[in-house]
Amino acid sequence: MKLLHIAASPKLDKQSSSKRVANAFIEAYLMKHEQTQCRYIDLNTLEIPHMTKELLEAFESGIAQHQTEQRALQIYNNLCDEFITADRYVISFPNWNLTAPPALVSYILAVIRAGKAFRYTEHGSEGLLHNKKVTLVVASGGITSGNHPKETCTAIVWLKNLFCVCGICDVQVLYCEGIEQMPDQAEEIITAAVQNAKEQGAVWDINAGDKL
Ligand SMILES: Cc1cc2nc3c(=O)[nH]c(=O)nc-3n(C[C@H](O)[C@H](O)[C@H](O)COP(=O)(O)O)c2cc1C
Repeated sequence: MKLLHIAASPKLDKQSSSKRVANAFIEAYLMKHEQTQCRYIDLNTLEIPHMTKELLEAFESGIAQHQTEQRALQIYNNLCDEFITADRYVISFPNWNLTAPPALVSYILAVIRAGKAFRYTEHGSEGLLHNKKVTLVVASGGITSGNHPKETCTAIVWLKNLFCVCGICDVQVLYCEGIEQMPDQAEEIITAAVQNAKEQGAVWDINAGDKL
């Protein structure tokens, strides 16, 4: 079993709410699944090339004419191969302007690929990733998970739909929210989110996440 922790916050582990919660979740999961290999991907130390016109041509044809595109394509392919061979994914990120940081968007562009993660058929798209689960860990300065559609972190909706297209409909979300809205309760909020993450991590392979 292979678990990928994909972390998008540029903050250090101890200063990032999303990383603290994700780390607690993973630690609890690994205690119950000692054979699982865990790989940590810090998106802020990865160099994911922008999709330029030249790279797009190479991306679509699979043929890179120049060294820059060859290198870029190789990075995309390596990330994609690593992603599709994993079984469990923890994706932690801060809510930035109601969405995810650009580093996560670039990563998703590299790994969710037609022919690898899903394919087109005459009946529409078909997921190619099976028996996998995703836990999204989202940290928000405000309270965004309630009934305030204007404040919803749209990255959650996007990622859930995207993974479902790929065949992964077991997607759960752990929130750590309100730290900036209620700064006097910041530590309590993080402690409660960490505690919840520990409990959820211990039962991840027992519970089913949201079914889309
Ligand atoms: C550029 C930027 C945009 C942000 N946008 C939002 C937002 O739209 N809604 C919100 O609730 N918090 C927002 N925040 C606050 C972060 O979500 C919050 O600080 C979060 O706890 C950071 O997670 P981290 O500690 O894991 O990096 C924003 C923060 C930054 C730096």
